[in-house]
Amino acid sequence: MKLSSAIKLAIVSLSLSGIASTSAIASEDGKKLYSEKLCMTCHGDEGKKPILSSYPKLNGQNKDYLVAQIKMIKDGTRTGGGTAAMKAMTATLTDDEIEAISTYLSEVE
Ligand code: HEC
Repeated sequence: MKLSSAIKLAIVSLSLSGIASTSAIASEDGKKLYSEKLCMTCHGDEGKKPILSSYPKLNGQNKDYLVAQIKMIKDGTRTGGGTAAMKAMTATLTDDEIEAISTYLSEVE
């Protein structure tokens, strides 16, 4: 009985901290992450100037689309094209970071 309440409490506090960290990561953090994670080395400043014409521009794209593409490249659902170059970059991204970067990119005019 005591143990199961302790477990419930742990689950509640874990999910609360999850909520807190999600809301703490906003688009300003996305901007920082975009450079910290070296995204600009291929997609250019603010996602506007990819280094190759076969690489996508990212600015102003729909946020949900960006989130979905990054996750699919990360988990291997999306393959082919230039995804091999991109996949390594996604390995260290958490879901929160993907959300934050995508929010930032979607808001860049
Ligand atoms: C080594 C070069 C490289 C780096 C660094 C890189 N990408 Fe990419 N990225 C690509 C390429 C190439 C594609 C196109 C994949 C394809 O052809 O399907 C791509 C595709 C994408 C897409 C899908 C765009 C679309 O229109 O479907 C998103 C979103 C994206 N990258 C975000 C990022 C983010 C965020 C980072 C930093 C964490 C990053 N990329 C770092 C090369 C890179």
